[in-house]
Order: sequence, then structure tokens, then C-alpha cells
Amino acid sequence: MRLDEASLTRWGKRIGATTTTPVVIGLRGQLGAGKSVLARAIGEGAGVTVSMPSPSYNLLLRHPADMGREVVHLDLYRIESSDELWELGWEQLGLNHEIVLVEWPERAEGLMPAHYWVIDLSVPVGHPDLRDVGAERVGAPPDLAAFPMSLSGS
Ligand SMILES: Nc1ncnc2c1ncn2[C@@H]1O[C@H](COP(=O)(O)OP(=O)(O)O)[C@@H](O)[C@H]1O
Ligand SMILES: [Mg+2]
Repeated sequence: MRLDEASLTRWGKRIGATTTTPVVIGLRGQLGAGKSVLARAIGEGAGVTVSMPSPSYNLLLRHPADMGREVVHLDLYRIESSDELWELGWEQLGLNHEIVLVEWPERAEGLMPAHYWVIDLSVPVGHPDLRDVGAERVGAPPDLAAFPMSLSGS
């Protein structure tokens, strides 16, 4: 699916508004691919009321959301060892009422949980304002809102 930023944001908001918890979503793609744009949209849809800052330096930020849920936003770009993951409380993630959004999940290598989504974002050659978006299940995570039907669809 190829989406402009408005459509990607709309999809993210629907994911946040509708997902059951716990759910873990890995966001994969190069710098500038739109991982944080999508993470913020999911957070907004889930009812996070602050503007979600980048977790690049803290690695992990938690935001209360609605219906007793919590958005846990991680950016593993700077992670250097699995020790740092344990320090973040990695083993406790993806429980209870959490929507866990992991940028750079590939940095966690074999340490991702048994059930999660991977959303892949890439910039199509010659289309800097569009993103090719794919979503893949690993294990049996809960359903996500379906893709928007078209660039302008709701
Ligand atoms: N279709 C699109 N979807 C998402 N972001 C887009 C799109 N087109 C342009 N952009 C821009 O790309 C950038 C993505 O940045 P960001 O989400 O921080 O990337 P990442 O977290 O993957 O490094 C933003 O500046 C955003 O405005
Ligand atoms: Mg980012």
C-alpha cells in the first residue's frame, strides 16, 4: 500500500483507537521513513494527549492513553547491547494494557516477544511524499485496523 502522510496518519489513529491490548508493534524503516509519524498517530488515536516527543535519547517513553491503556514508545536506534534492553524493563513489556511501539525492532534481534506486528515503511524512488507500507504478523498479535482503501480514503 502506498500512502501519503495524511493517509498514514489516519490509519495510525484508527489503529490506536481500535486496538485491543496488549499489542506490540515494531516500526521498521530507514531514518525519515515515518516510524515516528506513525507512532504519534497511533498514540493520538489511543488518546495520548501530550505531543509525543522522540524517545531517541531516553529509549523508552510511557504515555497514559484512554480506556486505561498506556502507550509505550521505544526507539532502539542507539541501543548498544541487550543489557540496555533489560535496563529498560524489556521483559515486562507487552503485558496488561500496553500498546508497545518499537522503532528499530531489528536492534532487539531475537528478543522480540512471541506475538507482534511489524510495519515496514519505505520511501518509493521518486516519491518523497509517499511511503510504501506493509504490515506483517509474527505469531498471533491482535488484529489491527485495515489499511486505508486509497490515498484519499478514510
Ligand atoms: N507519506 C508520508 N508518511 C510519513 N511521513 C512522511 C510522508 N511524506 C513525508 N513524510 C515526512 O517524513 C518524515 C518522517 O519522519 P519520522 O517519522 O521522524 O521518521 P523516522 O521516525 O522513521 O526516522 C517527516 O518529516 C514527515 O513529514
Ligand atoms: Mg523516529
